[in-house]
Amino acid sequence: MPSELTKKQRVERETFDLLVREKTAGRTLAVSRLQPSFADYNGDLFFGALRHVDVQGRRILEIGCGSGEISVWFALNGAASVCGVDISGESIRIAEQRAVENSVSNRVKFITCPGESVPLPDGSFDLIFINVALHHLELEAALHECNRLLSSGGQFLAVEPLVRSHLLQWIRETRFFQRLYPIRRESLTERILDMEDIKQIKKRFGNLILEPHRVFSPFIYKVKPVFRLLARLFFLSVRDSEERSRRCIRLLQRVDDLLLRLLPPLAIASRYSILVAFKEVINSKS
Ligand SMILES: C[S@@+](CC[C@H](N)C(=O)[O-])C[C@H]1O[C@@H](n2cnc3c(N)ncnc32)[C@H](O)[C@@H]1O
Repeated sequence: MPSELTKKQRVERETFDLLVREKTAGRTLAVSRLQPSFADYNGDLFFGALRHVDVQGRRILEIGCGSGEISVWFALNGAASVCGVDISGESIRIAEQRAVENSVSNRVKFITCPGESVPLPDGSFDLIFINVALHHLELEAALHECNRLLSSGGQFLAVEPLVRSHLLQWIRETRFFQRLYPIRRESLTERILDMEDIKQIKKRFGNLILEPHRVFSPFIYKVKPVFRLLARLFFLSVRDSEERSRRCIRLLQRVDDLLLRLLPPLAIASRYSILVAFKEVINSKS
């Protein structure tokens, strides 16, 4: 870990050193190959992102890997090698334990370091994956690092919350909506990406696909009485309330995806996006 962290990086490290303990306390470190628990409520985003890539045989870097669930899942699902990096030493300690528990430590390594300066050679990876962490990093430096670490034609894939309309975000931040559905921020220094950031990402790679997700489902999920009512209505026969919630959120997310396909302009109100870009192919002869 470089001794000189920026102020933002120090805040992130301290925040997630504490948060990761809370999040993992008393929970199993086992990762299911077929039904990973991180996909219970986020399967629309995770499996949506995986539709853009085949992880088989890939050399994968996960930036902001947290306690390593996704990195371990990649190793369990045929990646040639996986490296997870995170600024939080405590997260990496748990991630390493997780790799051992899932018998994949021969294919996964974890490094405590900022995603903006990863101590590995240029072109080391075919795929860089980032799950809701890019907006915690210093964007320009992180993008530069991703481009450096990717091999020729390598793929950048990220799942991020994204503000597409500042007007909608302003409405979302009014007291009325904050009372109904408070914006959740994990660290003081995180900054949700907006369309200016998207321009920057596009400029860095020279290409970018944006796939919108989630319009109404996060809102309905947060307004608990409405969500519970829908869950009971649609999944009357399911006795376990946790399972009912999981099925209901999946259904709502599917409805969102369908609406976004039928009505593309609705993307302006989407809360998350999958970002896909490719490093330019470098012709070794020239
Ligand atoms: C919202 S969490 C997401 C964790 C994980 N990707 C997941 O999906 O559970 C953001 C993660 O980014 C990490 N992080 C924040 N700033 C970072 C930086 N500059 N470099 C590397 N990781 C960073 C945090 O420690 C935290 O684990």
